Amino acid sequence: MNQQKVDRDLRSREIEAQRNNRYSSGAGAIRTFTGNKIFIVALLVLSLVALASAQKKDSCTDCHSQMEGPMSVPVQQLMKGDIHKSRGLSCVDCHGGDATQDDPSRAMDSRKGFVAKPKAANIPMFCGKCHSNAEFIKKFNPAQRVDQEKEYFTSVHGKLLKTGDANVATCVSCHGSHGIRGVNDPQSSVFASNVAETCAKCHANADYMKNYKIPHDQYDKYKSSVHAKMLYERQDRSAPTCNDCHGNHGATPPGIASVANVCGQCHTRQSALFQASPHKPVFDAMQNGECIQCHNNHDIMQPGDEMIGIGPKSTCVSCHNEGDKGFQTAARIKTIMDEMIAANSRALGILNRAEQSGMEVSKAKFDLNDSKDSMTNARVLIHSFNADEVEKVIKPGLEIAKKSEKAGEDAMSELGFRKKRPRVLFSSFFWLRSFTSN
Ligand code: HEC
Ligand code: HEC
Ligand code: HEC
Ligand code: HEC
Ligand code: HEC
Ligand code: HEC
Ligand code: HEC
Ligand code: HEC
Ligand code: HEC
Repeated sequence: MNQQKVDRDLRSREIEAQRNNRYSSGAGAIRTFTGNKIFIVALLVLSLVALASAQKKDSCTDCHSQMEGPMSVPVQQLMKGDIHKSRGLSCVDCHGGDATQDDPSRAMDSRKGFVAKPKAANIPMFCGKCHSNAEFIKKFNPAQRVDQEKEYFTSVHGKLLKTGDANVATCVSCHGSHGIRGVNDPQSSVFASNVAETCAKCHANADYMKNYKIPHDQYDKYKSSVHAKMLYERQDRSAPTCNDCHGNHGATPPGIASVANVCGQCHTRQSALFQASPHKPVFDAMQNGECIQCHNNHDIMQPGDEMIGIGPKSTCVSCHNEGDKGFQTAARIKTIMDEMIAANSRALGILNRAEQSGMEVSKAKFDLNDSKDSMTNARVLIHSFNADEVEKVIKPGLEIAKKSEKAGEDAMSELGFRKKRPRVLFSSFFWLRSFTSN
């Protein structure tokens, strides 16, 4: 038995003895116990008093939580993850009034700034009272923006609200009024995977939008897009939803001439190539929406090689006619790409055959991946609408494909040679035997 264990044994026996002493016998022990109890109770009372005096009286919550139906709903909603509640704000901070009064008419007194239900036209100012006040907001979070109200009035929503249209979105249409969560909370109405549904409440509602000239298909189309697939099926938050293309507060269609900038936030290479291409000035002058002329805006699909060239599904032939430079370029780009694809598939075919026959061609197969990269590059370079540019990136890939094909051919002829060798031995054996047997 080592010293540590001895010590532990002694210590536990000591504790045991103390316990027996305190609970089972001896008036002294009882005195200590009640003494402790009185002390604890006193401490509890003291801290409760301190807490009560530190916490502001909130007659709004007190009274409304007693009520039934819609009048108590805000109280319940505020309890469910509301960011204002979590920052110590309550009813009175938004609605005004006097939360120290129990009498309803004194508590909800408009002379004390009480606002029951702000009209749509006043909501931006109602929320902006704090959110446009940098001094106030920065106390809670120095990084928080304070331009929502200002931005909002630059949007189509804000401009129409000013003209008296109360059907447009205001702060509460997108954020709600009670139970507002932080924007990074997955349950927030403006979290990336919820934004489209929030906008769709109005924009996908044919009845609601019937007095406006714009379509109401944005949501359905968006949901069919490659972007929505990435966001909803693969949970890839780098894919855009409505506000990434339209802005959060300044929601406006980007306008024909700046679409490439909008898409270019993420597709930087395609955008840069397009901006430098012969299409930039002519598309803008003809009011053709830059990228969306070929890809659409809401229902953007996975592009395919049939979009280039002079076939029926080519985007080029919708504007270019046989003989013009665009048509020729389209045809040439397609020819270059087809040549690359054919070379690649020939190389892969022969390498696969060689591999199945047991030949070692893994290096050549590995190298062939680089030729795929040049194809990927070419699909980006299409946006220069310049066949020489596409050819430049295809060339190294084509060389690799040709080399790989050659490696495959070499492997196959090596295989042919190996197969031949035993046959030569065999036949020489028979040839020799024919001598001996004779
Ligand atoms: C003693 C009870 C009581 C207190 C205190 C009280 N309210 Fe009310 N409140 C009511 C009742 C009852 C109604 C419904 C009145 C009605 O229907 O006209 C109401 C209505 C409201 C409404 C909705 C008005 C509308 O027209 O829809 C708001 C908003 C509201 N209260 C906010 C507050 C705020 C903010 C405070 C604190 C500053 C507060 N209340 C304090 C009882 C109270
Ligand atoms: C973040 C600001 C904010 C806070 C905090 C807040 N409210 Fe409101 N409340 C609003 C807004 C904005 C409206 C109007 C909503 C609308 O028009 O859709 C509203 C509407 C109401 C209504 C009318 C609901 C109706 O359907 O007629 C009641 C009642 C109400 N609030 C009570 C409360 C009570 C009680 C609290 C505290 C528990 C509270 N509010 C906290 C912003 C707030
Ligand atoms: C058309 C819908 C819409 C309207 C209207 C709207 N918001 Fe937002 N709001 C959003 C979206 C979307 C986000 C961004 C979420 C994110 O960052 O992913 C956001 C973010 C915010 C944020 C977080 C900080 C920031 O700026 O990103 C605050 C605060 C905010 N909104 C307040 C307001 C206020 C106040 C109003 C009214 C003046 C308002 N919002 C109007 C959709 C809206
Ligand atoms: C009494 C002041 C006040 C009023 C009025 C107010 N807010 Fe806030 N709001 C705040 C504060 C403080 C925060 C927390 C800021 C932070 O910590 O980043 C906040 C946070 C938010 C956030 C989350 C921001 C984020 O970055 O996650 C949203 C969204 C928001 N408010 C929307 C609204 C809307 C909509 C209204 C009007 C219905 C409103 N607020 C009215 C003070 C207010
Ligand atoms: C409360 C309903 C409502 C909500 C929610 C709403 N909108 Fe709107 N929006 C409208 C109405 C109404 C118009 C005016 C239609 C028009 O422009 O003629 C409009 C106009 C627009 C326009 C301008 C269209 C044009 O070309 O004139 C854009 C862009 C837009 N909204 C985007 C959004 C986005 C993005 C969201 C979500 C983040 C959203 N809206 C949420 C009702 C709403
Ligand atoms: C990938 C970017 C992108 C996404 C995501 C996106 N939009 Fe758009 N949206 C555009 C472009 C670009 C236009 C057209 C601009 C033009 O023609 O001037 C547009 C136009 C609009 C318009 C004007 C009416 C129309 O249909 O032409 C509305 C309203 C609108 N979008 C709402 C939405 C809503 C709601 C969502 C989400 C469900 C959404 N958008 C998602 C890029 C986008
Ligand atoms: C917020 C970033 C973002 C914005 C803005 C954006 N995209 Fe995308 N886009 C993505 C992501 C992420 C993917 C999926 C990953 C990928 O394939 O690049 C994607 C995929 C695509 C694809 C399919 C590419 C493929 O190989 O499958 C096309 C085409 C496309 N976007 C076009 C556009 C156009 C046109 C716009 C503007 C109207 C736009 N995007 C705006 C991020 C964005
Ligand atoms: C004149 C028609 C046209 C225009 C304008 C256009 N594209 Fe493309 N885009 C294509 C074609 C064709 C392809 C290639 C399809 C293929 O071969 O797979 C393509 C492919 C893409 C791809 C997928 C690239 C890949 O690696 O497979 C993205 C992303 C893309 N375009 C984004 C954009 C963006 C962003 C803009 C605006 C800056 C734009 N496009 C403008 C025709 C166009
Ligand atoms: C929306 C119509 C439109 C589409 C789609 C389109 N183009 Fe063009 N393109 C034009 C216009 C207009 C011009 C300028 C007038 C001209 O030279 O024909 C032009 C010019 C060009 C030029 C420069 C011609 C010169 O004279 O220097 C080339 C190259 C070109 N396009 C290639 C293509 C290719 C490749 C595609 C398909 C990927 C394509 N275009 C799709 C409208 C279009």
